[in-house]
Amino acid sequence: MASIAEILAANPIVSAPMAGVTDRAWREIVHEMGAGLVYTEMLSDMALCYGNEKTFGMLNIEGEAGPLAVQLCGSSPEYMGKAAAIIEQEAAKFGSVVLLDINMGCPAPKIVKNGEGSRLMTQPELAERIVDAVVKAVSLPVSVKMRLGWDNDSKNVLDMARRVVNCGAALVTVHGRTRQQFYAGEADWEPIAEVAAELKKMSVPVVGNGDITSVAVGRKRMAESGCAGLMIGRAMMGNPWLIRDLVRDFVGLPALPKPTNDEVLQMALRHLYRQVELRDEYTAVRLMRTHLPFYIKGIPGAAAMRGRINQLDTAAEVEAALREFLI
Ligand SMILES: Cc1cc2nc3c(=O)[nH]c(=O)nc-3n(C[C@H](O)[C@H](O)[C@H](O)COP(=O)(O)O)c2cc1C
Repeated sequence: MASIAEILAANPIVSAPMAGVTDRAWREIVHEMGAGLVYTEMLSDMALCYGNEKTFGMLNIEGEAGPLAVQLCGSSPEYMGKAAAIIEQEAAKFGSVVLLDINMGCPAPKIVKNGEGSRLMTQPELAERIVDAVVKAVSLPVSVKMRLGWDNDSKNVLDMARRVVNCGAALVTVHGRTRQQFYAGEADWEPIAEVAAELKKMSVPVVGNGDITSVAVGRKRMAESGCAGLMIGRAMMGNPWLIRDLVRDFVGLPALPKPTNDEVLQMALRHLYRQVELRDEYTAVRLMRTHLPFYIKGIPGAAAMRGRINQLDTAAEVEAALREFLI
């Protein structure tokens, strides 16, 4: 299997883990758009260890093209190690998983209240024990996704990055915000560049993350940060073409025209009907209420259309509304 550094050298465009967004249907789309590495949503360690059906459903990777990174979230070294082993066992059946990622960045209150996600940035020794346990439990490479720190007064990303690498992490991803910022303000790429320079000395690649909204921004970040990869989150929602455009730019291909309304319609419908195939129609239609506003963002009347979509219950109704709006 290629190393994670080789995978990123071949294609540094990474699709971010996003709970409620980067499920199977979405991952198939960004994979087709050419992403070099595609993350799952975060999976709870406890839920995996207790055989939670919904969480196992999120590990639906049978027949899915890779390279995939599966993200784990938790605060107990013991459960994280066990959950990692469960993922590795499942992944071994399909061969598409190349990385097991540990979430140390999630700012959500319900996560940090449990000592998970970005809360681990305030507990370096526990974080080390978690990485150590996961590295020992699996043969897959292990990575950590972190923020700059908990708040402005405790930006410890450099120290945390060194620590997790010393425990065996093969990759670190840094989102250029603190936990207290949530998603506000601008991502700060200076500390990301510092981490990239530091980990270069340890021969460990760094993926930079935060506010990559266009090819121009991506190119600048790649050139200035020294990162081995760029992770794209919110800006790809409703716009998976951004992944395609970033990948094309990386290999020196010229930009393609923006998708037409018809292409947007076809992509949104494909996304919708793949969700229906993978779930029941009721759940699929509700899930697409998150995505569809992003597909139509910026088109006059989009806000009213969003309100309308939220009232619809069947895929056929959603399709008819989208056709009427986009054609
Ligand atoms: C709806 C949503 C869900 C997210 N879920 C996760 C997650 O499960 N795991 C994680 O590490 N980060 C998660 N993130 C953070 C993103 O992976 C990414 O770090 C963040 O959005 C910044 O990148 P961006 O500016 O490209 O969006 C989530 C973000 C959003 C908006």
